[in-house]
Amino acid sequence: MSPAASAGDLAGRFAEPVPLEGRPLGEVLARIDRDLLSGVNRLAHPMYMGHQVSAPLAAAIWMESLKAAVNNSAAVREMSPAGTAVERQVIRWMCDLAGLGAEAGGTFTSGGTEATFTALLAARARALPDAWERGVGEGAPVVLAGEHAHYAVTRAVAELGLGMRRAVAVPSRDHRMDTRALAGRLAQLRAEGVPVMAVVATAGSTATGSFDDLDTIGRLCEEHDAWLHVDGAHGASALVSARHRHRVRGIERARSIAWDPHKLLLMPLGTGMLLVRDEAELDRAFLQRAPYLFHGAGGRVLDQGVRSFLCSRPVDVLKLWVALQRYGLEGLAAAHDHLCDVAHGLWELIGTRDDFEAMHEPESNILCFRWRGPGLDDEALDDRNRRLREAYNLSGAGWITTTVLDGRRVLRVTIMNPRTRASHTRALLDGLAVEAARL
Ligand SMILES: Cc1ncc(COP(=O)(O)O)c(C=O)c1O
Repeated sequence: MSPAASAGDLAGRFAEPVPLEGRPLGEVLARIDRDLLSGVNRLAHPMYMGHQVSAPLAAAIWMESLKAAVNNSAAVREMSPAGTAVERQVIRWMCDLAGLGAEAGGTFTSGGTEATFTALLAARARALPDAWERGVGEGAPVVLAGEHAHYAVTRAVAELGLGMRRAVAVPSRDHRMDTRALAGRLAQLRAEGVPVMAVVATAGSTATGSFDDLDTIGRLCEEHDAWLHVDGAHGASALVSARHRHRVRGIERARSIAWDPHKLLLMPLGTGMLLVRDEAELDRAFLQRAPYLFHGAGGRVLDQGVRSFLCSRPVDVLKLWVALQRYGLEGLAAAHDHLCDVAHGLWELIGTRDDFEAMHEPESNILCFRWRGPGLDDEALDDRNRRLREAYNLSGAGWITTTVLDGRRVLRVTIMNPRTRASHTRALLDGLAVEAARL
C-alpha cells in the first residue's frame, strides 16, 4: 500500500540531469510504471486506512483530465465563462445545504487551510477595516479555537499579523470544545476589554472526527458579537446526509464555513470550499486593485478572483459538479454514510475483543484505538503501539496512522475508501494482532 523503498532510494531513482531531448512515449510509460507507480501510496486499496485523503470517485477522476485539457482559469469570468457559472451554482447549492441564506456566497479553494485563512482574513476586515492599509497595530483582537483545532487556525492567526499570542486555546472535553470554558473565556476577555475577532469551531476534528457543539458556540458568538468560523474541512460533509446532519446542528449560525469535498465527498485533492453567510464580507477581505484583470461594472463582481487568495486557479468545482450529475447528492450521501458505518463497525468489533480498546465512539469515519497487552504499563503500551503501527504498515497487510491522544500513543484509522468494508476492518485487527505477537 505504501512503497517499502526508503526516501533516499526513491530520491535516487529520480536523480538525473534534466532531460534535454524527449523520449518515445513507450519509454516514458515504462518509466512511469517502473519508477513512479511503484513509489506511490495506493489509496484505492481497501486496506489503506491512512490519512484523510480520499480514494476518489471515478467521475471526478475523469474530470481532472478534462479540466486540465480546457485549462480555463477560475480567477476571471472571461477566462472561464462556464466554469464561473458552475462555481457560482455549486456554491449556492452548498450554502443552501448549510442554511446560510440569500446573501451567502463563497469560493472554491485548494483546501481547508486556504479556506480558514481566507475566512479569518474576512473576519479581520470586519474587526479592523483599516488593517489592509495600516496593518493590525497594537491592541489587535484575539481568535479563540478549541485546543484540538487543526494547525490551519493558529497558522492563519500568525499569517494575518495578529501574532500567535493572540490565538487563545479553549480546553476540550471529550475531544470537543468545552463550551463552558468558552463562555468563561469570552466573559473574561470582555471584562478585560480585549476584543474578540473570531471563534473557530471544529466540525470533524482531525484526530478523532469529533464535532463541536455548533449551536451553543454560535449562540455565544452572537452574544459577544464574534465572527463564528466553522472549520468543517472534514465534517461539514455531514450536511449531505440525512443520518449525520444532526452533528452540524447550528452550522447556519456561522459567518463562514471551511468545507473540503476532497475529504468525505471523495473528490481528488484540490477541491475545497469557503462558504460565507454574507458574500459582501468576503469581498472586503481582499482589497486589491487590478483593473487589468477584474471588470466590475457596479453590482456584484462576477470574477471569482476578487474573493480568492489565488489568482490563476483551476476550475476545481467541475469535479464536484460532475460527481453530483453522475451520482446525485443521494449517491454522495450513501458513500459518506458507508465510510462512517465502517468506522462504527470497527468500534463495535473492538468492543468484542480484549486485545484492543477504542478511545472514543466514532462520530464520523475516524477511530483512534490501542492495542493492549497484559502486564504493560502506559509507557510500555505507548512504545508498543508506536512499533506496532510501523511493523503492520511494513508487513504490507494494510496501512494506518497514529497520533497522540490525551497524552497516549494510539493507532488511528480514517475510512476514506468506499471499497473498504467490514471484512477489511476485521482483517485489520487480525493483522495487527499477528504483528503484536511478533513484537
Ligand atoms: C479539521 C481540519 N481542518 C483543516 C484541515 C486542512 O485541510 P487541507 O489539508 O485541505 O488544507 C484538515 C486536514 O486534515 C482538517 O482535518
